[in-house]
Amino acid sequence: MCRVLVVRGSFSGIVRIVLYCKGGGCGLTVEPMEQVTADMATLDRPTSTGSVRTMFDRIAPTYDKLNWMLSLGINRLWERKLVRKLPKAAGGLCLDACTGTGALVPRLAPHFRGVVAVDISPQMLSRGRKRCQGIDGTAWIESDAQDLPFADESFNAVSVSYGIRNLPSPEIGLRELNRVCVTGGTIGVLEFGQPTLPIWRDIFKVYAKHIIPAVGEYFSGERGAYEYLPRTAAAFPCGTAFEELLKNTGWTPRETISLCGGIAYIYIADKLPA
Ligand SMILES: C[S@@+](CC[C@H](N)C(=O)[O-])C[C@H]1O[C@@H](n2cnc3c(N)ncnc32)[C@H](O)[C@@H]1O
Repeated sequence: MCRVLVVRGSFSGIVRIVLYCKGGGCGLTVEPMEQVTADMATLDRPTSTGSVRTMFDRIAPTYDKLNWMLSLGINRLWERKLVRKLPKAAGGLCLDACTGTGALVPRLAPHFRGVVAVDISPQMLSRGRKRCQGIDGTAWIESDAQDLPFADESFNAVSVSYGIRNLPSPEIGLRELNRVCVTGGTIGVLEFGQPTLPIWRDIFKVYAKHIIPAVGEYFSGERGAYEYLPRTAAAFPCGTAFEELLKNTGWTPRETISLCGGIAYIYIADKLPA
C-alpha cells in the first residue's frame, strides 16, 4: 500500500484517516492513533521527559532522512556553522547534549580530546553510536540533560542542536549545562525560531503546519511527532528572548546569528567568572 495523504481533521488524537493508492485504485482507511504521539501533537512545549523519550524512540529509524529532506539539506550547513563558532580545545572535552543520532559529533571530534554525547532516547543514541563507529574519543550516555551525571566544570565546551526546546524546563537544562561547563567555557545552541518578515513568516507557517506533518507521516508514520516540531518551534523564545534565558541561567551571550530570516538561530554564550 502506498500512502499519499493523511488527514486527521476532527478525529484528532483518536483515529487517522489514510488516503491510499493500492494497485490501480485508491481508498480510505481509518486507523487508531497511538495516544502518545497524538498528545505530543497538541503541545506547545513538552511536559514530561518520558513522553519526549517515547516520541524520539519511535521516530529514530527515519529521523536523519527526514531531517535532511525537510530542511532540504540546510541543517548540515547550520550544524557546520555552529561547530565553527565554538572555541576549540584540543586537550579538552566537549559535551553534546540532546545529541540524538550524533549529527554534531563527527564535526566536533577533531577539535577535542573527547566528545561526550548525551541523550534521553536509547534508540536515537544507538544510531549515533553506529554513525560514529571508528571515531576515537567519543562516549554515549543515556541521561536527562536537566540532571547530568557529571561533576561541576567537566567540559570546555557544550553544544545543543534542536534540543533545548524539547526539555520540560529549558531553564533547568541551561543551568545544568552551565554547571558542568568550565568557567571560561562556551555553549553553542542551534534552535528553531520564528521568521520575522511577514511574507516569509506566512510561507513558513504553511510549510510548518501542512508540509512537515504530511511528509513526516508519510515517511515515519508518526504525524504527531511532526506536528509537535513546528508547534514547539512556534512557541519557543528566540532572538533576544532566548538571550534573556541564557542570561538568567548563568551564561553571557556573545553572538546571536539568525538563520534563513529567523527560521533558526545560533546562540554563542560564555560562562564568565562570577
Ligand atoms: C530534535 S532532536 C535533535 C538531535 C540532534 N542534536 C540533531 O541536531 O539532530 C532532539 C533530541 O533531544 C533529545 N532529548 C529530548 N529531551 C531530552 C532530555 N531531557 N535530555 C536529554 N536529551 C533529550 C531527544 O531524545 C532527541 O534525540
